[in-house]
Amino acid sequence: MTEHEKLLENLEYLKMKEMGLHLDETIDFINKNNLSFTEGLIKLTNYEIDHKETSMIKAMVKVGAFPHQKELKDFDFEFQEAINKDEILEFTSHRFIHQNENIVFIGSSGVGKTHLSTAIWISAAKKRISTYFIKCHDLIAQLKKAKLENRLEDRLRHFTKYKLLIIDELGYLPIEKEDSKLFFQLIDKRYEKRSTIITTNINFSSWDNIFMNPMIANAILDRVLHHAHVIQITGKSYRLKNYYQEEESVHN
Ligand SMILES: Nc1ncnc2c1ncn2[C@@H]1O[C@H](COP(=O)(O)OP(=O)(O)OP(=O)(O)O)[C@@H](O)[C@H]1O
Ligand SMILES: [Mg+2]
Repeated sequence: MTEHEKLLENLEYLKMKEMGLHLDETIDFINKNNLSFTEGLIKLTNYEIDHKETSMIKAMVKVGAFPHQKELKDFDFEFQEAINKDEILEFTSHRFIHQNENIVFIGSSGVGKTHLSTAIWISAAKKRISTYFIKCHDLIAQLKKAKLENRLEDRLRHFTKYKLLIIDELGYLPIEKEDSKLFFQLIDKRYEKRSTIITTNINFSSWDNIFMNPMIANAILDRVLHHAHVIQITGKSYRLKNYYQEEESVHN
């Protein structure tokens, strides 16, 4: 067996399929460009990492049942001037997750709350951080069903295990008084142990109305905001972007 064959066999044994597939071209590249051993190995291992990250995203998209893939590179920061780009980029370092901090995106429809949350979610999934994306209404429905079936604790534990939970569209549909308590239990379980991202179009002062129970609303807010980055997006809806452009051209 030649050394080349032995190396291929080792890569196969280690399940480094991509490195095996790109071995020959990488060796050529190393020789042509006089790369050091370390540089060459970085190049070769990057093939494996890229592939693993892509399959990780695909798996996460499936598990999280999110219909589309939006990343930060697709976000036009110039359109949404109220957003501090560096602050958002910092979230993709995942420090906030390691420190069990929360993020709340507040703003009206179409300003990019779901887009930015998804981008952070994907960046975390790429780094194999366990994350889950769910609409608030579906989350409450699941907890409610679990309670009826006497397995609420199980369900709460399920949602607490994710290092990052993204709860999209809080307050878009009213939450009944009894259901508010279920939401509180989840937030309380995650408090200071896990990170949560919430997107909403409701100002904090009106959370009483979402939860129909001022005491519970206050207890939820207190825990969510204790270690939180609040991103207020005051700009226009991106969905109506073309409409604004037409308006501007009419006025100019
Ligand atoms: N600044 C932006 N650059 C590029 N695309 C954007 C930007 N803002 C929003 N979008 C796109 O516009 C659409 C609406 O954005 P998004 O779904 O994030 O809005 P939202 O704030 O979650 O609104 P809603 O409250 O109605 O759910 C999406 O397709 C999103 O990718
Ligand atoms: Mg949204």
